[in-house]
Amino acid sequence: MASPPSSSSSLSYIATMVLIPTMMSFLIGFAAGNFYQDVDITWGDNRAKILNNGELLTLTLDKASGSGFRSKSEYLFGVFNIQIKLVPGNSAGTVTTYYLSSQGANHDEIDFEFLGNLSGDPYILHTNLYTQGKGNREQQFYLWFDPTNDFHNYSILWNPNHTVFYVDGTPIREFKNAESIGVSYPKNQPMRLYGSIWNADDWATRGGLVKTDWTQAPFTASYRKFDVDACVVSSSAGTGSSSCASSLKNNSWMSQDMDSTSQSRLKWTQKNYMVYNYCTDTKRFPQGLPPECSIH
Ligand SMILES: *[C@@H]1O[C@H](CO)[C@@H](O)[C@H](O)[C@H]1NC(C)=O
Ligand SMILES: *[C@@H]1O[C@H](CO)[C@@H](O)[C@H](O)[C@H]1NC(C)=O
Ligand SMILES: *[C@@H]1O[C@H](CO)[C@@H](O)[C@H](O)[C@H]1NC(C)=O
Ligand SMILES: *[C@@H]1O[C@H](CO)[C@@H](O)[C@H](O)[C@H]1NC(C)=O
Repeated sequence: MASPPSSSSSLSYIATMVLIPTMMSFLIGFAAGNFYQDVDITWGDNRAKILNNGELLTLTLDKASGSGFRSKSEYLFGVFNIQIKLVPGNSAGTVTTYYLSSQGANHDEIDFEFLGNLSGDPYILHTNLYTQGKGNREQQFYLWFDPTNDFHNYSILWNPNHTVFYVDGTPIREFKNAESIGVSYPKNQPMRLYGSIWNADDWATRGGLVKTDWTQAPFTASYRKFDVDACVVSSSAGTGSSSCASSLKNNSWMSQDMDSTSQSRLKWTQKNYMVYNYCTDTKRFPQGLPPECSIH
C-alpha cells in the first residue's frame, strides 16, 4: 500500500488502510450488462424495474419517492461504462445520477448528476469528486446532443494516477492524483456503483427557480449496457491492490494516461461546454483556490 495522503487523516481512514490488505482480495471483474446479476434495487419499491431479461433498468420518480440501485460488487479502480437515456420533456427539478461511492463520513465519491430542465432547455451534467469526505469540486457541462432522445455512453476511468469522466468516449473532466501537493486521492476505499433519480427542485434547475411539475410525473430514466472492467474487492483473504493490477488480464486502463488526442478533446469540451468550474470561482474561495486547481 502507498502512504496515506497528507490531508486530514481520520480514524476511519486509518482503519480502512489496515483492513484492506488483510481482509480483501481482488478479482478480475468483467461484467457485461445483466442487471439481475450486477445490481440490487435499493430503494423506491416498484419505481425501479429490471426489464428485458436484465438488459434494461428503469428508474422513476413520482411525488412520493424516487428510486435507485447499486452494484452488488465493490471495486477498487476500473473502467465503468453505462448507457443512459434521460427523462424526456419537462424534467425540471429532477436529478438522475450515476456515481461511484464508498461508505462513511470520510467517503470517496465520483459523480455524474444530470440536472433536468423545461422542455427544450438544456440539461446540465453536474460532476463532483469527493476524497476523504470532502467534495466542493463541482464542474458542470452542457451536452452537445439531446440526452433524452437516445441512449448515450457515460464512463468513469478510475486508476491510481487519475480519474477521467467521459461522454460518448470524449473526456470532459480529469482529476489528477495530486497527493504530492497534499490533496487526497481516492485509492484506498472500495466503491460501489449507484444510479438514482430524485427530486431536487430546491436547487437543480436554474438554481431552484424552476420547480418540478408533478402533473408530468412519473419521470423515467433508463439505463442499459452496464459494463465494468475493474478490480472487484471480495471479503476473502488477499494481499492488496497491487495484486489486483498484476492479476488483471487486460489492465491497460490501470495505467491509461491522457494521450495528446484525449488532451485536445478534453480542452475542446471544457472550452465549449463547461458552464461552471470550481477552479475559477475565486469568489467562492476567498482564501485561495483549492490546491489541485494549480494542476487541473
Ligand atoms: C456507446 O458505446 C458503444 C460501445 O463502445 C458504441 O457501440 C456506441 O456507438 C456508443 N454510443 C454512442 C452514442 O456513442
Ligand atoms: C435550463 O435552461 C436554462 C435556460 O436555457 C439554462 O439557463 C439552465 O442552465 C438550464 N439547465 C438547468 C439545469 O438549469
Ligand atoms: C485492452 O483494453 C483496451 C481498452 O480498454 C483495448 O484497447 C486493448 O486492445 C485491449 N488489449 C488486449 C490485449 O485485449
Ligand atoms: C502516473 O503519474 C506519474 C506522475 O505524474 C507519472 O510519472 C507516471 O508515468 C504515471 N503512470 C502512469 C502509468 O500513467
